[in-house]
Amino acid sequence: MKVSQVWQQSNKDMTAMPPPRRAAAKRPMWIIVLLLLVCVALIGAYVYPPRRYSACYFFASSVCTPFKDWLPSVARRERTDEEIVSSVVMRDLLAMPMAVSKNPKIALMFLTPGSLPFEKLWENFLQGHEGRYSIYIHASRERPVHSSSLFVGREIHSEKVVWGRISMVDAEKRLLANALEDVDNQFFVLLSDSCVPLHTFDYIYNYLMGTNVSFIDCFLDPGPHGSGRYSVEMLPEIEQRHFRKGAQWFAITRRHALLILADKLYYNKFELYCKPAEGRNCIADEHYLPTLFNMLDPGGISNWSVTHVDWSEGKWHPRSYRAVDVTNELIKNITAVNENFHITSDDKKAVTMTPCVWNGTKRPCYLFARKFYPEALNNLLKLFSGYTST
Ligand SMILES: *[C@@H]1O[C@H](CO)[C@@H](O)[C@H](O)[C@H]1NC(C)=O
Ligand SMILES: *[C@@H]1O[C@H](CO)[C@@H](O)[C@H](O)[C@H]1NC(C)=O
Ligand SMILES: *[C@@H]1O[C@H](CO)[C@@H](O)[C@H](O)[C@H]1NC(C)=O
Ligand SMILES: *[C@@H]1O[C@H](CO)[C@@H](O)[C@H](O)[C@H]1NC(C)=O
Repeated sequence: MKVSQVWQQSNKDMTAMPPPRRAAAKRPMWIIVLLLLVCVALIGAYVYPPRRYSACYFFASSVCTPFKDWLPSVARRERTDEEIVSSVVMRDLLAMPMAVSKNPKIALMFLTPGSLPFEKLWENFLQGHEGRYSIYIHASRERPVHSSSLFVGREIHSEKVVWGRISMVDAEKRLLANALEDVDNQFFVLLSDSCVPLHTFDYIYNYLMGTNVSFIDCFLDPGPHGSGRYSVEMLPEIEQRHFRKGAQWFAITRRHALLILADKLYYNKFELYCKPAEGRNCIADEHYLPTLFNMLDPGGISNWSVTHVDWSEGKWHPRSYRAVDVTNELIKNITAVNENFHITSDDKKAVTMTPCVWNGTKRPCYLFARKFYPEALNNLLKLFSGYTST
């Protein structure tokens, strides 16, 4: 029985309903019949996948959320012009050989409101590695005051960033575009003003350059802060089952940096329909890249971020480390972690622990960490030579 037939039949049954006076007594029976019909319709939808666009809207609506996992894919719908353009551009971009650089560098891209409190620490980290890195700073609120000459003159044109809005993604894209101008940049790391390095430059350089995988955090959170932020306006290109979540701080290959700049289709959907404080508290920078890569190149990303952050306190903001918190033991603990942790935002609070697998072997997950208060600088500097020698 086809979906439409089920609905027709249900309509027929409705018109044959007895007069209202008698309905009261029979209501429980009618509820059971209606429930049965809904079940039949859902089974029908499963056996005979919806072919039309309108059906696809209906079945993705939140009414059907509990059943979404068993609903079939709507792969047979006709693709839009933009989707065809996007799919050929992305396919070839993912397959084509990339220019090989004789002098590969990592681009350190700082996304900050103003001054960077840990410039001295980064300077220690970068010392002796000239020509193997480049620095870019997007300062969205005020001109940074520098404490290290390595950072002087590295600001790019910047715009205001509003938390959770697409302007955050725009700032990331601005950093990527500037860093891509240098063909020697092969890996692109997004860092904040409260980020610090956890290892020596060589360790981090080899970790990143030794793989073709981008370190983008990505997981399926069925809860209100995950799939709950999806909106049906993202259809037909983005289905709820493809919607993902992940921390903003990425480290990506040149190919994936280009892919982000090449994407218009999915970006537009997030620009238009992923806004905080409009019913759904959708945070563009937590969902755009995880969803994009989950759809276009799921095997090309690690699914965890190489920047550590401690959410274990279960608050709205992650734990921030003060000077007294910065001890050898803390750094040892963070650098020893070799499984990444995700927790869903629904009532189940389901935890998944996944080994951090790098080129086939389990390795420590984290190269950087946040968030540190500026007052932690001196302790970090004292510890740095110690913790980066191992
Ligand atoms: C990755 O693993 C393969 C197979 O074990 C090895 O031959 C290769 O050298 C490794 N790559 C790096 C960068 O370590
Ligand atoms: C990355 O991919 C390129 C091209 O596919 C290949 O030549 C290179 O060996 C790969 N590098 C690693 C570390 O797997
Ligand atoms: C990341 O997750 C996706 C989808 O869950 C999976 O297909 C992919 O293999 C994962 N990546 C790695 C490197 O395990
Ligand atoms: C380090 O890890 C151990 C073992 O999990 C824990 O008992 C200790 O409190 C941790 N120390 C810090 C400073 O996080």
